[in-house]
Amino acid sequence: MNTNDQPNTLLEVKDLCVAYGQVEALSNASLRVGEGQIVTVIGPNGAGKTTLLSAIIGMLGSRGQVRFDGTLETVPEVEVLVGRGLGLVPEKRELFGSMSVEDNLRLGGFMRYRRGDAYLDGTLAEIYSLFPRLFERRKQLAATLSGGERQMLAVGRALMAKPKLLMLDEPSLGLAPLITREIFRIIADLRRQGVSILLVEQNARAALRVADYAYVLETGQIAMQGPAHELADDPRVIEAYLGLASKHQEMLAT
Ligand SMILES: Nc1ncnc2c1ncn2[C@@H]1O[C@H](COP(=O)(O)OP(=O)(O)OP(=O)(O)O)[C@@H](O)[C@H]1O
Ligand SMILES: [Mg+2]
Repeated sequence: MNTNDQPNTLLEVKDLCVAYGQVEALSNASLRVGEGQIVTVIGPNGAGKTTLLSAIIGMLGSRGQVRFDGTLETVPEVEVLVGRGLGLVPEKRELFGSMSVEDNLRLGGFMRYRRGDAYLDGTLAEIYSLFPRLFERRKQLAATLSGGERQMLAVGRALMAKPKLLMLDEPSLGLAPLITREIFRIIADLRRQGVSILLVEQNARAALRVADYAYVLETGQIAMQGPAHELADDPRVIEAYLGLASKHQEMLAT
């Protein structure tokens, strides 16, 4: 049963299944993202989180239903979904290393450019104000950026397409706590600007803090779901994903 039924539905996934050969990596996964929401999917390594995002955007074959912005995608196709406003920051950031930061950003707006959208420079300016670091480094080659800067560039590039829904695959992966905090601050800012977000994370604590609604994915199945603040207080989630030690530390800190 899916109980995340607050605002208008932007993305609805029903009974999505993905198999790699004989091995089913995703089994009947169902989820919903409402307009203006941040929804998170947390779960351990190998749970199927990346598989889920890849299948939703049509990079992987799947069975089941994906309905985005009111239209049912019987066979999700990347170009179609991106054209209709779905964005993905993939786990492997896939930047163009030998191109500058600014050229990477401009490429992110390519589909809009092709449609004759004249506001690309405006969007670029918005992204630079969201990530001043990218403005400082706009002439630098993407390959020479630090991990945190690469992550900012990957998010910025996806934003150049003006997505209605941005899917982020582990934006805090490998980042130091300060940069992680910065990334989560930007995620909260984006929501305030009206971008809906589907956030996949192993950093359950930070994800549950920023999200409205959360799903726990374990071995390819949605094992739990609920409002993020409720899941954060659920003893099963605390034990498996938040850790008693860190809970204790948080109590000591307050
Ligand atoms: N191309 C592939 N061929 C075969 N098995 C795959 C393939 N891609 C992923 N898998 C397997 O499917 C399962 C789910 O992988 P997936 O990458 O979706 O997990 P994940 O939740 O994103 O993990 P992580 O947190 O480590 O990124 C894993 O057991 C993985 O080994
Ligand atoms: Mg992954």
